[in-house]
Amino acid sequence: MSELRTNVCNVLVIGAGAAGLRAAIEIHRMGAEVVVVAKRSSRDAHTVLAAGGINAALGTRDPEDTWEQHFADTYREGYSLSDPRVVEIVSTEAPAAIHELLEWGCPFALLEDGRIDQRFFGAHTYRRTCYAGDYTGRAMLHTLAARVGELGVRIADNHYVSSLLVHEGVCFGALAFDQDYGERTAFFADAVILATGGHTRLWRRSSSRRDENNGDGMYLALRAGCRLQDMELVQFHPTGMVGTEDLAGTLVTEAVRGEGGRLFNSEDERFMTRYDSDRMELSTRDRIALANYTEIAEGRGGPHGGVFLDISHQDKGFILDKLPRMYRQFIEHQMLDISKQPMEVAPTAHYSMGGVVVDSETHATDVDGLFAAGEIASGLHGANRLGGNSLTETVVFGRRAGRAAAELSRKRESQLRSRSALDAAQDDLDSLVHDGDEIVRPVQRALRDVMWECCGVVRSEDGLERGLSRLGEIEQMMGDIDVRPTAEGFGDLAHVLDLRASLMAARATLLGALERRESRGAHNRSDHPAIERKLQVNLRARLDQSGEMHIESEPVAAVPPHLQRTLAAAAELDSSRGLLE
Ligand code: FUM
Repeated sequence: MSELRTNVCNVLVIGAGAAGLRAAIEIHRMGAEVVVVAKRSSRDAHTVLAAGGINAALGTRDPEDTWEQHFADTYREGYSLSDPRVVEIVSTEAPAAIHELLEWGCPFALLEDGRIDQRFFGAHTYRRTCYAGDYTGRAMLHTLAARVGELGVRIADNHYVSSLLVHEGVCFGALAFDQDYGERTAFFADAVILATGGHTRLWRRSSSRRDENNGDGMYLALRAGCRLQDMELVQFHPTGMVGTEDLAGTLVTEAVRGEGGRLFNSEDERFMTRYDSDRMELSTRDRIALANYTEIAEGRGGPHGGVFLDISHQDKGFILDKLPRMYRQFIEHQMLDISKQPMEVAPTAHYSMGGVVVDSETHATDVDGLFAAGEIASGLHGANRLGGNSLTETVVFGRRAGRAAAELSRKRESQLRSRSALDAAQDDLDSLVHDGDEIVRPVQRALRDVMWECCGVVRSEDGLERGLSRLGEIEQMMGDIDVRPTAEGFGDLAHVLDLRASLMAARATLLGALERRESRGAHNRSDHPAIERKLQVNLRARLDQSGEMHIESEPVAAVPPHLQRTLAAAAELDSSRGLLE
């Protein structure tokens, strides 16, 4: 094995998506030394795939909008499992976060008077979603990356973090290796922020690309001593591409529906009339995903197992202005002109609504010195995420976690080191490199099939038990996977680490899904079709000393009186709108 390099800073950020880069900017602003470790090229983090927009109650199009209404929409549609303080922070701090991005050059669509335009996204009472065409995440990430570049923040691209360094409950860095050359680096820091995304690539059909969102950050957190919450609450986006294997699941943005797109089944019926006749295609994602799933399962799907999403009633110029990526995506991959023909789409695993348990204000985890921000963290979305809230979460809590981590660094008397923790992390990596009879890619595929078949849009006790048993068989293969780093690179090693992480994330998800004997939001149990009042709880996974996983139930955070009044006012508004209609 190669020599170990060391790299020292005040705060280490793992992940170079929007949450990681926003954290880095804040840490730098606080005068602390920050290093960002990125698994792929930092301008190509998963955030580039976020399409349709970012929410804030700016009131540009609908002056009646307020942060209180944003709070109420988010909390209610999360089926009361969210942390109300986290929702309040996101709703109140979103406008400043978006104006800051605009100031830094983010090319949001603007009205003629220079104000940021806003479009409808599902289940928002008002037009609240700010956007840059249908490539909002990419626009934001490139803005943040440019800012980070101007500030001279150090970024280690193409590095895979295999372990967090923890001694006696304190996190003091991470061990990583370069995926091309295998060179290892021990990153030492006073505080570490995990901004590594979620675990939705565990499903066969996913809106994530191949080697991202494998649950790697969740694995690191759990092994370090954190708890994971509500891992079973996975959002299936209603509209992913269907057709060829390599593209199945690729996101077809909600902005298509926000800009007027309509859903049809193979009988040419606009079927949302039967599922949510008020909100139709702008209903919540959980309802539309289940509607699409049901239409397909009951035989009213198209030739590739999807339903039809049609925007062809809009002008081509309008489509090219508002949905340029979608237009090109379908021409490129299916030679289909969406201004003339409908797209065939089906649900795709899209977002981890659960994740690492964090403090509402700072996103500190259970482990001293370790923070988590962005999709990896739990608290905001409950059982159903509103589209556009994830990008808001990245910048609001990226900033907060960055600030808290820099403050913690200031308070540290000295920087911790532990030879034994570092040796253990190195031994762990060495132990994975050996010849074997199994190849990692087919084993990853087997796991994805299990999750799709046994823990998909609709679940049942039988299916979940079957999933756990097949997971056990796959876990047995782990020790026999051939990992041979060569001059061509250390991809094998990265993939086996992804697989190990995915297995643990899958276990937490299956166990949580078994335990949640109800249907709530995105979690549909065919054997428990209703909401169970007593399951208005968060389900938390933790590892015991022997490494065995346990699921514990935790009462949800109470809604304080001022937010109860906000919810009551929103309910009143709803009923008056209903009366007016
Ligand atoms: O459909 C979309 O554009 C996705 C947005 C989101 O997940 O927030």
